[in-house]
Amino acid sequence: RVDENTIRALPKAEVHVHLEGGFELVDLVDLAKAAGVALPGPARSLFDVSTHYEPAPDAVSSGGGAANGVGVGGLSGFLRFLDWQCSLVTTAEQAARVAYRFAARESSSGVRYADVVVNPTHWNAWNGRTPELFAAFAAGLDEARQDGLADIGLCVSLLRSQSRAEARELVEWMAAARPAHVVALSVDGDERVSGRTGEKFAEAFTLARDSGFHRTVHAGESSGPEGVWDAIDLLHAERVDHGVRAIEDPALVRRLVDDGIPLGICPRSNVSLGIYPDWASHPVERLRAAGVTVTVNTDDPAPLGTRLESEWAICADTFGWDLADLGQLAHNSVRASFAADDLKHELH
Ligand code: ADE
Ligand code: ZN
Repeated sequence: RVDENTIRALPKAEVHVHLEGGFELVDLVDLAKAAGVALPGPARSLFDVSTHYEPAPDAVSSGGGAANGVGVGGLSGFLRFLDWQCSLVTTAEQAARVAYRFAARESSSGVRYADVVVNPTHWNAWNGRTPELFAAFAAGLDEARQDGLADIGLCVSLLRSQSRAEARELVEWMAAARPAHVVALSVDGDERVSGRTGEKFAEAFTLARDSGFHRTVHAGESSGPEGVWDAIDLLHAERVDHGVRAIEDPALVRRLVDDGIPLGICPRSNVSLGIYPDWASHPVERLRAAGVTVTVNTDDPAPLGTRLESEWAICADTFGWDLADLGQLAHNSVRASFAADDLKHELH
């Protein structure tokens, strides 16, 4: 087994991880106390808390049961937990603290740079005050950088169910305000609920590209290969988050290889949220063998109960990856990231 200390020491990036999925337990306990609400589960770990959260019945999607007991109702129920948790963050100090702790979590796994997805719709106390929310995150990330912790690029994320007009408005704000630390436009959420959304968001992603922002798109998780095609053809995705169901379409796998489009893969997330029954049947190894640039990431490490080094170690165990393979994985992670060129050079 490859030692996790060795994995921590590899210079690397994480490219698919959500700010909403990186709260520290101690902060969640403080937030709940300040808000005067009880945690849904025992305060032993974020995983315990998220596992005990029960979303309202209307939030439970039909697809993707919780194979490993994370929440109720697969991805949609899990996203409701993130809504609940983020709703406890009401002050700028609290938002800055969440961002600071997130950078510290990344550093403790040996991550030097992370592309971090933030979806403003989770943070419902900040509805209509997105600029203030991002200013608070930037303050926390600046402090983290001064303290020598990981560098973070924020990927502002649309929710699948938002409208064309809401999407345009968000990107117009990004283009006009150029908020600190923001590097990309993203889209996430459950496509089994929203249906196919490529066309709806094409205008927003084109505007993001033309305004100089990177693009990353969740697809091929709650959608099949068609979501990945839309991400590439309609949304100008430079990277696809998850993207694993591309394995079902050989022409799509060829396209990912030919265009050098990397995937931000999160094996445990897929297993825990019921996309694949177990690690052995996860397609990360088949995609890699086909020549796709794969990266391995945590998605939502705190509520999924994982850490980056353990994801990489389990991949090594399950698929027989040796230290050279993990070195290649680290190299891929830097290449696939939206880090500034000088930082990329330093990490390569
Ligand atoms: N938001 C947080 N985690 C997500 C996931 N795995 N899929 C889609 N949206 C998400
Ligand atoms: Zn994700």
